[in-house]
Amino acid sequence: MKKYILSAIAACAIIPVMGAIPVYLDDSRPIEERVEDALGRMTTEEKVAMLHAQSKFSSAGVPRLGIPEFWTTDGPHGIRPEVMWDEWEQAKWTNDSCTAFPALTCLAATWNPDMSLLYGKSIGEEARYRKKDILLGPGVNIYRTPLNGRNFEYMGEDPYLAGEMVVPYIKGVQDNGVAVCLKHFALNNNEVNRHTTNVVVDNRTLYEIYLPAFKKAVQEGKAWTIMGSYNLYKDQHACHNQYLLNDILKGEWGFDGAVVSDWGGTHDTDQAIHNGLDMEFGSWTNGLSNGASNAYDNYYLANPYLDKIRKGEVGTEELDDKVHRILRLAFRTTMDRNRPFGSFNSPEHLEAARKIGEEGIVLLKNDRSLLPLDLSTPKKVAVIGENAVKMMTVGGGSSSLKVRHEVSPLEGLKRRLQGIADVSYARGYVGDPTGEYNGVTTGQDLRDDRSPEALMAEAVDLARNSDYVIFVGGLNKAAGQDCEDSDRSGLGLPYGQDALIEALAKANPNLVVVNVSGNAVAMPWVGEVPAIVQAWFLGSEAGNAIASVLTGDVNPSGKLPMTFPVRLKDVGAHALGAYPGVKRVDSPIVDLEYKEGILVGYRWADTKKVKPLFPFGHGLSFTEFTYGNPVADKSVMTDSDTISISLDVSNTGRTAGAETIQLYISDPKSSVIRPDKELKGFQKVFLQPGESKTVRFSLNKDDLSYFDAERHEWVAEPGVFIAKIGASSGDIRKTIKFKLK
Ligand code: GLC
Repeated sequence: MKKYILSAIAACAIIPVMGAIPVYLDDSRPIEERVEDALGRMTTEEKVAMLHAQSKFSSAGVPRLGIPEFWTTDGPHGIRPEVMWDEWEQAKWTNDSCTAFPALTCLAATWNPDMSLLYGKSIGEEARYRKKDILLGPGVNIYRTPLNGRNFEYMGEDPYLAGEMVVPYIKGVQDNGVAVCLKHFALNNNEVNRHTTNVVVDNRTLYEIYLPAFKKAVQEGKAWTIMGSYNLYKDQHACHNQYLLNDILKGEWGFDGAVVSDWGGTHDTDQAIHNGLDMEFGSWTNGLSNGASNAYDNYYLANPYLDKIRKGEVGTEELDDKVHRILRLAFRTTMDRNRPFGSFNSPEHLEAARKIGEEGIVLLKNDRSLLPLDLSTPKKVAVIGENAVKMMTVGGGSSSLKVRHEVSPLEGLKRRLQGIADVSYARGYVGDPTGEYNGVTTGQDLRDDRSPEALMAEAVDLARNSDYVIFVGGLNKAAGQDCEDSDRSGLGLPYGQDALIEALAKANPNLVVVNVSGNAVAMPWVGEVPAIVQAWFLGSEAGNAIASVLTGDVNPSGKLPMTFPVRLKDVGAHALGAYPGVKRVDSPIVDLEYKEGILVGYRWADTKKVKPLFPFGHGLSFTEFTYGNPVADKSVMTDSDTISISLDVSNTGRTAGAETIQLYISDPKSSVIRPDKELKGFQKVFLQPGESKTVRFSLNKDDLSYFDAERHEWVAEPGVFIAKIGASSGDIRKTIKFKLK
């Protein structure tokens, strides 16, 4: 009997006494209850401490309550190497070399949401493994000018494509218990004067072009944090902006996450308190020596805010809202005991990087079906150009990485052609022989003091004596190229590449130009070059992805996420002189008016009938596809209807391949100006030779609408609409008319 009594007492002892686990620590309770409970336990000082950085990339938790710190990391393409507590310089860790995934322009060029989910999952696992809670990316700023230094970090010129492609990336990352930090919100569409540009844009353009990708990322992607941008809008810095953050993001869109400043994007305590900023990072202090002993206490949302509260100059309502959001972020990340553990530099991540690269590479031109390389008999292959050897994962600004490895195009081709072809290399030109960013060096010695003439002569001679010539050039991550905090000065290729390409074309008709860039470039030699490939910045597996496509191991299926104009003047912003803006008198502010309005990218080219070099959505294949006649399930639709349009697409060639069928909407008769066409649907289908598949699109009133700024709502005008279905914005294969009642 005694034994039973003892066991009964023992049993009671292990039943937790109700209330012994505080609600905020009880995983079984809803997040909102846990937030309220934690908030109620915090002092004002602890709340203010959560609002700002404590080091270059981290912010405080609540040590007394066991709520962890937040660790953030760049960037959109891979996990940045560790830096010193309060420096941009390297911490010189030896365990933080990562996998570099392709740049987001390449991801967008896959037009494949599955690739986006794979990307987000993979980079999210790397961030999680590196114990980072907030990934400072992805970016979805719209490609307004081909000069913007950071276009390579974004997803092109069309808000629908960017929105569709960013949502799965966000899900993939956040499924790891890591928050994305969607950036840069908003209107950060060039780098020159990025801290002082005040963007002037009409509301219709703002809502139709520059906001939709962010809105979809917030409302469908459920982004947990978003980063304010450096520029101003309506004379307020975007990091504390009543219109963008309070009215639109938190008001109209119902964003329940935290707004993070860009590093150094905070400029005023009152505005930071009242205009929607929640977490302040990177304010211009060096953290430990400049000013007070710990300059982080001098942040705008640090002691200056605390002082205002203590003096009764401001209440704590805004403070509690900010901390509520930050605690919600904590329970989604650092306080989530069930989040996965991630992984780092796994074979799966390298495979993902290669697959995304292979699917994003765009075959722009392929006369005489020069590609894929015919390797049925031994061949001599000349590889020429600096970008065949130059590492592209170091540099470019905050997205710069320290990688476990990076396969260059030359290495990739040598590996793939080993024993099959004789591969030789010539530099051709010298562009940027340096290779260092924030203390990370490529370790390459690309110095070459031969004259341009000598370099060209060597390349032309090699080309003349080869069966194939593969020129790998383009841009790079140096300032003034594809790089943060600077824009390009022109559309053309740098370093005399045009002359070299023309010389190579004369030396050997079997010339393939592989352009490595995150931006469109001018191609004055386009008529002399039979095969052109847009290869983006592809990360760790660059050379393998390029070799797969050039040899036909992979049939290219990428499509351009931005227009390649013939010349700069063919771009709305430049045709109207609406870049880089006009500096105010006696003020550092530069006013930049988006005079082209909604006519960005193909919206300008197609409406103004300016033929591009290569249109938005363009991309060839090694096989052919035919489009059947589209059929609609109704010819008249109402406001509350959806219309479904379907068509059969067939692979009529000899190799398997994938085609992205694009559906654009056109409103031929409208009371307001509307673009010639607007992308409202796309489907990527993989087809075996001879195979057909039915592709379906469904459209509703919203898809037909324009934004009426006066009424502040989306309006679809009754009348005839045309669905334009094609392989690109410049290659409409089929159309079908229908009416909106
Ligand atoms: C940079 C960039 C931003 C980056 C941040 C931290 O200036 O604008 O994209 O995440 O600062 O490096």
